[in-house]
Amino acid sequence: MRTELDGIQVAYTDEGHGLPLLLVHGFPLNRRTWSKQVEAFKTNCRVIAPDLRGLGESRTSAGSIPMSRFAGDLYALLEHLNTPSVILMGHSMGGYVALAFVKAFPKAVRGLVLVGTKAGADSPKAAAARREAAAKVKAEGVASVVDAMASKMLSPSNTNAAMAKAVKGFMASSSPEGVAGALLGMAERPDAGAWLREIRVPTLVVAGADDAIIPPSESEALAKVIPGAQLKLIPHAGHLVAFEQPDVFNEAFREWLARPGPSSFPGASDPFQEQPAGLVGASHEP
Ligand code: MLT
Repeated sequence: MRTELDGIQVAYTDEGHGLPLLLVHGFPLNRRTWSKQVEAFKTNCRVIAPDLRGLGESRTSAGSIPMSRFAGDLYALLEHLNTPSVILMGHSMGGYVALAFVKAFPKAVRGLVLVGTKAGADSPKAAAARREAAAKVKAEGVASVVDAMASKMLSPSNTNAAMAKAVKGFMASSSPEGVAGALLGMAERPDAGAWLREIRVPTLVVAGADDAIIPPSESEALAKVIPGAQLKLIPHAGHLVAFEQPDVFNEAFREWLARPGPSSFPGASDPFQEQPAGLVGASHEP
């Protein structure tokens, strides 16, 4: 499906009925990386999966795309879809966006799933490397980024050539302007560590045990700091854990949704009936 938001044409998937679930892909990827979650969850959930501005089939704007801009786009999409609050699942850069979203729009988040991601900002060296990569992408196209990242997306033990080809295809279809904009946006993103302790919604943190892009230790750190967060490390999975090990990943998500105990969602028959308090004092502006 397509709609125009903030002057940009945005492509998104919207399937199923029930508990709203917003899936936010990583870099330089697109919503097709969630295909196995859309199929699995649409029987019980309304699954919304956009292509972020500049990636996949969504159009881009010029220059850097800050994480807060992506978050604002997601909020505008939810308004367009008349969906005031969701379970928010973000992978890698999508996790950076999810953390920006939960800060800006706490009441729109009923639960949070952070996948293969981290809270920290780039070091000055990493930010400089991103800016250099952005200049190269603008001058020469996305091949340099695809070549640098493709082999690290899946577990080194994964010999499934068709899966590796599909991942490369996701990355290669991104536009140079969009990829460069996301690189510049990531380079300037703030450290989200400061507001992790303020997260007041049930949170699941998932990592592939073999993630060579964002090590699982980052997920362990997130789960330690976010109040009540649960951690799931998935063996035989690299950075793109939900795509590589969909059955284990989907089961972990289902178990988390159904879990008993003090951190379970309020409400008896519909666990998402009640709105959580969200972050105290956060603004609703993107
Ligand atoms: C991603 O998969 O979204 C990126 O690898 C994140 C990053 O480069 O920091």
